[in-house]
Amino acid sequence: MPTGGHIANRRFRRVRLSPLMQSGLATQDAEDWRARQIGFLLPDDLPRHFCPSQPEFSHAAAAFLAALPSLEPYFIRTVQEAAASIDDPELLRQIKMFNVQEARHAREHRAMNAWLARHYPELPRLERVIAERLDRSLKHDSLAYRLAYTSGYEAITYHLIGFMMEQRATWLADAEPHVFALLCWHGAEEVEHKSVAFDVFQRVCGNYRLRARGLADALVTTVKDLRGMMRYMLTVDGRWHQPDCRRAVRSLRLSFARGLLPRLLVYLRPSYHPSQYPDPPELQWWIDRYAAGDDLRSVSPTMLDGARARSTSTSR
Ligand SMILES: [Fe+2]
Ligand SMILES: [Fe+2]
Repeated sequence: MPTGGHIANRRFRRVRLSPLMQSGLATQDAEDWRARQIGFLLPDDLPRHFCPSQPEFSHAAAAFLAALPSLEPYFIRTVQEAAASIDDPELLRQIKMFNVQEARHAREHRAMNAWLARHYPELPRLERVIAERLDRSLKHDSLAYRLAYTSGYEAITYHLIGFMMEQRATWLADAEPHVFALLCWHGAEEVEHKSVAFDVFQRVCGNYRLRARGLADALVTTVKDLRGMMRYMLTVDGRWHQPDCRRAVRSLRLSFARGLLPRLLVYLRPSYHPSQYPDPPELQWWIDRYAAGDDLRSVSPTMLDGARARSTSTSR
């Protein structure tokens, strides 16, 4: 059972809350119970590799997460802009949930980025490059394209979460419990709103070729951003030119290509809808524990063990 029992003995940095989205969309909504307040704490002695036995994976994951404070406000702006032409009350309700959840994700990941920048001072500049590219997209790209990009990125996130949960014994076995707790929370809410961007894209545009292009562009830019940040962090660590590091990076790349790309191909089926795929049972475990009132500020990967077996036995 997740507890905060050992928290009392360590020094923690309360996550500094950055201002909410400049768009002003992240308004509090008393009805929206799904926008959870966890009160994450990052310990002062957080290791720079949050999976100490997997420095390359740690940096790949940290780089993926580092882009979120730029990406998630872009998704909110895009989906909210589309909301003006939608009159389906249920979809509008879902959009509201999407906006509130993504705003909180961006806020928590900004705090994580601030911690990372203490070890890797060039990271904020790399984040700014992403933010500037997204700003240009907001100004110059059509709403339909931005929705396709958003929907494609949300599909990448959703399938990545499923892959990571399945493979956590390989990559996340010794994940730092406060960072892992943040990942579980974010993963659970991504799974909850997995269909929203897709449904909005289909409602506003629905063009199949644009949908496919949105996925391809989201994948290419994500890999490019991730590679640059990862290389920089491994260079600061003094590892980038070491043969074992290069081997580990190659192996990581191969594992993700083999594990993730086939999952993403389903997005290209004309009849695809995110609801067609079963969600990771580990995240249902997290949702149930949250609903039961557990302290989920610290979660170790082993706490999730058994969630898959339990879900199989209850579904019989
Ligand atoms: Fe998110
Ligand atoms: Fe999302």
